[in-house]
Amino acid sequence: MRIGVALYAQDDTFISTVAQNLEWLAQEAENRTGQKISLFISDGRSSQTSQMDQVDRFLARQCDVLCVNLVDRTAAAVIIDKAEAEGVPLIFFNRQPVAEDIQRWDQIYYVGASAPESGTLQGQLVLDAWRQDPAALDRNGDGVLQYAMLEGEPGHQDALLRTEYSIKTLTDGGVEVEKLANDTANWNRAQAAARTGQWLEGFGAQIEVIFCNNDDMALGAIDALRDTRWEQADWPLIVGVDATAPALEAVASGQLYGTVLNDSRGQAQAMIDLALALWAGEDPAQAVELEEGHYVWLPYHMVTRDNLEELQEAQ
Ligand code: GAL
Ligand code: CA
Repeated sequence: MRIGVALYAQDDTFISTVAQNLEWLAQEAENRTGQKISLFISDGRSSQTSQMDQVDRFLARQCDVLCVNLVDRTAAAVIIDKAEAEGVPLIFFNRQPVAEDIQRWDQIYYVGASAPESGTLQGQLVLDAWRQDPAALDRNGDGVLQYAMLEGEPGHQDALLRTEYSIKTLTDGGVEVEKLANDTANWNRAQAAARTGQWLEGFGAQIEVIFCNNDDMALGAIDALRDTRWEQADWPLIVGVDATAPALEAVASGQLYGTVLNDSRGQAQAMIDLALALWAGEDPAQAVELEEGHYVWLPYHMVTRDNLEELQEAQ
């Protein structure tokens, strides 16, 4: 059995953990079933044109199933038409195609996690902190939460919806907020550090919370704070999403207040289970929990210092 996996960019921290889990879990499934599984992984390096060529190559190599992490999530239709012409089932992951594209063919699936849920849980982390000790967060004592927002790639469902739902959770919870600054840092640590450095110069201690659409950007914000002479006790509260290994270390050291686990292992497991079922011609709904015939949703989980150990033991 051959699975072609097209990554949008292999140097993305979260995506590289998904790829790693796919390799482990394919090996594990091979040992368990005795069925040889070959995984081909390509790196789109953020170019949709390159990714199209890679998909063509997977089809020419007679892959049985394709797993695609789109560079441009509005570009699914071309890939769907190619796969359908060859009768090769498609599993999109992490970068969600629009619903009309998913409906184009019955052999199309999406494995991911609900973007609004991740935003809500990130907002909940901050809401809990505010309720526990409002004075610690509201450093200027004006009863309003002043914040900055580091956003992921423009147009990405996770960037749009985490930005929206994190704040909505606070306002729904009765907290008044004031946005001091927001910008995209494209999921990227160095860009986030540069942006945060400028904000710290411009706003100084006025920023009470930095919301980061992912952990790499949260680590970038931390890099910028470490470059200042501020005591860690004076840093704004920082929250991320993903629960990558370095982010969990930052939670342990108290530099990152919390994050939201984006279950890379669960997503990889669902993709392998789904791929095996599709290859064997079995009913995919028996292999994974399928919604609306196309979607597999993995839950997110809040992570703070309080449940860090539990989480690390479970992994
Ligand atoms: C998000 C993740 C980011 C980045 C992005 C890539 O789900 O939180 O860190 O990996 O996907 O599409
Ligand atoms: Ca305030």
